Amino acid sequence: MVKRCLILAGGYGTRFLPATKAVPKEMLPILDKPLIQYSVEEAVEAGMVEIGFITGRGKRAIEDHFDANLELENRIQGTAREADLASLQRLIEICGFSYTRQGETLGTGHAVLCGRLIMGNHPFAVVLPDDLCLNPNLGVLAQLSNVFAKYQCCVVAVERVPLAKTDRYGIIDGKEQADGTFLVNELIEKPSPEEAPSNYGVVGRYILVPEIFEVLEKTEPGHSGEIQLTDALNTLAKTDRVVACAFEGLRFDCGSIDGFVEATNHCYSQQ
Ligand code: G1P
Repeated sequence: MVKRCLILAGGYGTRFLPATKAVPKEMLPILDKPLIQYSVEEAVEAGMVEIGFITGRGKRAIEDHFDANLELENRIQGTAREADLASLQRLIEICGFSYTRQGETLGTGHAVLCGRLIMGNHPFAVVLPDDLCLNPNLGVLAQLSNVFAKYQCCVVAVERVPLAKTDRYGIIDGKEQADGTFLVNELIEKPSPEEAPSNYGVVGRYILVPEIFEVLEKTEPGHSGEIQLTDALNTLAKTDRVVACAFEGLRFDCGSIDGFVEATNHCYSQQ
């Protein structure tokens, strides 16, 4: 069972300025719920209750969100508004939250490495909250967790992306298995359409084994001069099994205005 989940929330969110000047991008709401709460709910649904956050300067609102606010709670007690906080209160009751800061944003791989102490020597999930993944029947982390239970190795979520957009994703080269998963031969971070070995793009949901930390320590800066998780997984795929899961569900890129609006419209239409 994977019990731990690392949520990477260290990025600046420059694509949403000026909104993200003083507000962490992960706190921007889709309807009435901040993006990061969707991530935690997805983790809890998958049975992951030890939640680690990689944060940075200006991200304190995330800690406040997952903490009691007695003054507010007293004020709304017994009013119609009380129910609005109930789902968040439940998360606060059942999860343990840990926070660690990424002093410099040196890449997704570096962010994961910052979580080494709080994840310890256990398999753990990684979530990039910008990718909002929705499946009302079984969330994407729960789907990955099932794949992990079978293969006991790193698992990445993938979906088909337009060939013209491979340079926005980690792209896998893999061999499809009878159960619909892929045994990964290679992962390339943001290749051009000409270089891309497929159009299966990695979405921001992973399950990693603790061996990834040793690999990350030795991973040199790659695409954009940053330490890429994709590169570390590629190294691991040479010696260990890495499996890709073409998950069922919808995924919105809430790191872009278009994706954020699409996600908002979708959630509004589902109310
Ligand atoms: C990150 C990963 C990339 C992955 C993407 C999914 O990139 O590095 O491999 O495909 O998330 O959203 P980013 O979007 O943070 O640049």
